[in-house]
Amino acid sequence: MTRVFTFAVLTVSDAASRGERVDLSGQAIREIMEVHGYRLSGQAVVPDEEGAITERLKGWATSVDLILTTGGTGLAPRDVTPEATQKVIERPVPGLAEAMRLETARRTPTAILSRGIAGMRGRCLIVNLPGSPRAVRECLEVVLPVLDHALEILSGTATGHPVPPARGG
Ligand code: MTE
Repeated sequence: MTRVFTFAVLTVSDAASRGERVDLSGQAIREIMEVHGYRLSGQAVVPDEEGAITERLKGWATSVDLILTTGGTGLAPRDVTPEATQKVIERPVPGLAEAMRLETARRTPTAILSRGIAGMRGRCLIVNLPGSPRAVRECLEVVLPVLDHALEILSGTATGHPVPPARGG
């Protein structure tokens, strides 16, 4: 990594926002990202409300390199994280969400039920992850190998094409 990138974690969950559930997914994201050398610069829990989500994403997008959301990507009536994210991003990065679904569905068929998206707002990359600790681990495993390069290009610290990281298998 050419420089330390900052990240923020947004847990979208009615239950967690009311204190009725421990935010294990947010904790998992934080631990995984810190182990990989990223620096936490924000963490919050909001209910499944579009306004609360967009407000937090817009606020963080001006000051952090990466925002990872967890939860609210499913088919339940109150799952609105993708819709909120869509309103905030300026350019989509569909490959990240496509790869997370495709790769993790091999092990976890329900992965294709996540409607999560990814995209850029200014120089910030926003990625929706599903709402369980297991899903968070599985999905981050897929995107982490390309995340540094994505953020280097986005932040203007790299323009070249690196040798693609090897994929296991
Ligand atoms: N993706 C992976 N990799 N692993 C998982 O366990 N859970 C799925 C899916 N994506 C899962 C996953 C399930 S069961 C649901 S309902 C959707 O994510 C949406 O979850 P969310 O509403 O908590 O975001």
